Amino acid sequence: MRSPRSFFAPLAVGAPAPVREIPTTPSRMIHFFDPSNEKLRARVPEMARSADILLANLEDAVAADRKEAARTGLVEVGRSANLGGTPLWVRVNALESPWVLDDLVTLVTEIGDVLDVVMIPKVEGPWDIAYVDRLLAQLEARAELQRPILVHAILETAAGVANVEEIAVASPRMQGISLGPADLAASRRMKTTRVGGGHPGYLVMADPDGDIARPSYQQDLWHYTLARMVDACTAAGIFPYYGPFGDIRDEPGCEAQFRAAYLMGCVGAWSLHPVQIAIAKRVFSPDPEEVRFARRVLEAIPDGSGVHMLDGKMQDDATYKQARVLVDLADMLAR
Ligand code: GLV
Ligand code: MG
Repeated sequence: MRSPRSFFAPLAVGAPAPVREIPTTPSRMIHFFDPSNEKLRARVPEMARSADILLANLEDAVAADRKEAARTGLVEVGRSANLGGTPLWVRVNALESPWVLDDLVTLVTEIGDVLDVVMIPKVEGPWDIAYVDRLLAQLEARAELQRPILVHAILETAAGVANVEEIAVASPRMQGISLGPADLAASRRMKTTRVGGGHPGYLVMADPDGDIARPSYQQDLWHYTLARMVDACTAAGIFPYYGPFGDIRDEPGCEAQFRAAYLMGCVGAWSLHPVQIAIAKRVFSPDPEEVRFARRVLEAIPDGSGVHMLDGKMQDDATYKQARVLVDLADMLAR
């Protein structure tokens, strides 16, 4: 039997992270479904055709008395459903819960060969990832799996945010990190009752002594965490995602939240309903007009150096690199 670490070389202290600048397959949304729900299980092939990534949720939103049904339902999906190449992820229960050990043992043993990524909720520090890494290695060796299962962390506790840089590099299995605004709001003791999005009370301050009436605008509640998470992920060579947007009927609000994440560097977001799949596809695919301009930048600076003017705008080595990001993403999505 293989030794429980052999998929990866041991991490060398100070070694550069592997560079995975953009996903090599579309990753614009991670579509959640509840595998304890028989009707949803029957729709898995259809969901897999429209979503970039399909995720079976075993954690929050699945009631305590449905945990086993959800796990069993996922085993059924993994054994029988034709996903046509769409990656299958699972969000297991949190590490402090009584269910997570059975989740991991059952799923790796029964359907480890078709599970691509395990999403771990409420990660507080690199020690949580190290625990999962070790356990996965043991279970993979026992099940004689031929490829490693990757790990995705949800950033949804104040401690997790404080340790995000260490979490991002905690294991070579790390695929990415998602911002979980609902649990993070609770963990931080924010005074909100929402799942993601803004708040009408969180405003840019107007100057009370100013002589012109200044409008106040909503600020982005998640700006600081997203920016920090994007930097931590990018520095580690893994992928950042925005998480859930809970008000399914507020499509403009969802689009605005996704767009802020996209512009900031996230590769995708979670979708909780088919309407959000469509929003994520629109938002996380680069605007064709911008891609056309980016291609002109690449043509104007073929070797990526020097200064050039394009439509009155200065282009140089740095704008070449920005253009490369958009063009590479557009090309990947067109394949
Ligand atoms: C996601 O799990 C969240 O708490 O927002
Ligand atoms: Mg959560």
